[in-house]
Amino acid sequence: MVGIMHGTPAAKQSLRRDRAQRLLAWYDAHRRDLPWRAKPGEAADPYRVWLSEVMLQQTTVQAVAGYYRKFIARWPTVEALARAPLDDVLAAWAGLGYYARARNLHKAAKVVADELGGRFPSTAEELRKLPGVGAYTSGAVAAIAYGAREAAMDANAERVIARLFAVEEPLPGAKPKLLTLGKSLVPEKRAGDFAQALMDLGAGLCGVKRPTCTSCPWADDCEARKRGIAETLPVKGPKMVRPLRRGAAFVARDADGAVLLVKRPEKGLLGSMMQPPQSEWGGRFPSADEAMAQAPFRAAWKKLPVVVRHGFTHFELEIEVWVAEVKKRPKVGGVWLADLSDTALPTVMRKIVEHAFADEGPLFRSGNRRA
Ligand code: ADE
Repeated sequence: MVGIMHGTPAAKQSLRRDRAQRLLAWYDAHRRDLPWRAKPGEAADPYRVWLSEVMLQQTTVQAVAGYYRKFIARWPTVEALARAPLDDVLAAWAGLGYYARARNLHKAAKVVADELGGRFPSTAEELRKLPGVGAYTSGAVAAIAYGAREAAMDANAERVIARLFAVEEPLPGAKPKLLTLGKSLVPEKRAGDFAQALMDLGAGLCGVKRPTCTSCPWADDCEARKRGIAETLPVKGPKMVRPLRRGAAFVARDADGAVLLVKRPEKGLLGSMMQPPQSEWGGRFPSADEAMAQAPFRAAWKKLPVVVRHGFTHFELEIEVWVAEVKKRPKVGGVWLADLSDTALPTVMRKIVEHAFADEGPLFRSGNRRA
């Protein structure tokens, strides 16, 4: 056999093939069985791949599985999703967070169903034109659904690549570099399996803490391992200090146990989702007088002693909860609902309502509790 000169294009290609082969062989033996994954040899359905990848942005595999199954059972095709009322989609999404994703999901389904004849584009560049589809999702869908030579760099894949090449530059600044390095490894064939193999390696053996290098198919190549710094990578930039916002929520309940909910404005945080009426959120809690001035109606409102806390991406929220029981529903805007399980109630609002009636047992149908 003719030797391949170290560092030549041929040698680099050979190394790339070899690395990809080892990772794919590992994947064939250890791949996770996930509800959105096509079985070996089965063709991937672009709709399912796209739906799962949008759900998986900023959310864990465990949190997504139930939602994914529910969406597929209810809306098995992109046309079905496009025809669904937005409020139904938001209600089904409730609890997954980052609700702009659900609105964009619905918008993109309409584009695909109404303008593209029900077919998802097959290149990352074209996929990126869909609402809510960015660099990560377009790469993931192009690779997994169509086998395009694209990388899908989620946090797990980024960690693997940062270690393989010992990238010491902190995140998020290192992202473009990690993407370039990740892309350079993608093989001509089985790009989708390769993308998912990287994710699985990062979710398992190459986890954040104590990577299990001895079982890793890339142990011999891993620069961070050689230098003994695998566990320290990737380096994270300084943590953002999130400002604190405070406000009051008003949970009113009638004689039938129905709770008053209002719809949030369409634009902005938690757009179009439901909530108990609220005060403005500001730097401090409203005083009792200020709270009563913002309550939805006059009643014997009582403030609960414990506040509800919730972390959003850009701020922390603390809410004081005021409760009132009414015999007769006052004439105010909003809806009174006794069963909240099919309502577009974001997690923070669910916490507020549950807190209001904490000593009365579960308010929501079991099995419908959300992350
Ligand atoms: N995280 C994001 N996309 C994923 C996928 N397709 N498989 C496993 N984990 C993922």
